[in-house]
Amino acid sequence: MHADDPRSTVARVTQVDAVMRERRSVRAFLPTPVPRELVAEILSVAASAPSGTNTQPWQVIAVAGEAKKDLCDRVLQAFHHEQGEHQPEYDIYPAEFVDPYLSRRRRCGLDLYAALGISRGDTDAMHAQHARNFAFFDAPVGLIFILDRRMARSSWVDYGMFLQNIMLAARARGLDTCAQMAWALYPGLLAEVLQIPDRQMVLCGMALGHADPAAVENRVRTEREPVGNFTRFSGF
Ligand SMILES: Cc1cc2nc3c(=O)[nH]c(=O)nc-3n(C[C@H](O)[C@H](O)[C@H](O)COP(=O)(O)O)c2cc1C
Repeated sequence: MHADDPRSTVARVTQVDAVMRERRSVRAFLPTPVPRELVAEILSVAASAPSGTNTQPWQVIAVAGEAKKDLCDRVLQAFHHEQGEHQPEYDIYPAEFVDPYLSRRRRCGLDLYAALGISRGDTDAMHAQHARNFAFFDAPVGLIFILDRRMARSSWVDYGMFLQNIMLAARARGLDTCAQMAWALYPGLLAEVLQIPDRQMVLCGMALGHADPAAVENRVRTEREPVGNFTRFSGF
């Protein structure tokens, strides 16, 4: 059946929408390994993402096993001892964090901490949860995304599409992910450990693996605004 055949439409819409709606940030993974071939397959389909003038600006460093352990050990050590490069690659938060964005961000954090039983003001527990980023939440595969500094800001738009494709391709294969800005907090250390040349910048990371269904942090569900709240239709 051809993709444009109307008979295929309902099934395709249902499946594609389900994969999009099912995707969520998973912050606890099982140790079940993800074979290199499967990671390559996901990256291959994700690279079908569009990019301005087909520049395909993405560059990926995929780590597992000892390579992942080395990276995590180094960054966790820096995180716990306040060492290393703390100057992020770029502004992760706006200088002026205004509503509605600020309240959404607060809600996101509060819901995660509530699920984990972390009370307001328990900074040690929050710090420990933040540290989980640098273990890729125990996912068997970690992805680090780098971008040539000589590229324009338009490449960031392209990159987002590639990242989302990875997350959807993973979900369609029964895997889960968590996009991680946290890795951009340690660009100097990542450059050293992963031998990233000066002309490349660290954009973000991603945990990839099988979700731990028993983990409370994986029960968190985030909400979205209805279309009418973020769209102005004109001329319909
Ligand atoms: C680019 C990007 C970076 C993110 N960085 C982190 C991160 O460093 N740590 C983390 O726990 N979650 C991170 N997230 C996950 C967001 O908090 C999450 O996507 C958001 O709360 C919506 O929830 P959902 O992904 O479950 O739909 C990131 C998401 C994106 C898209």
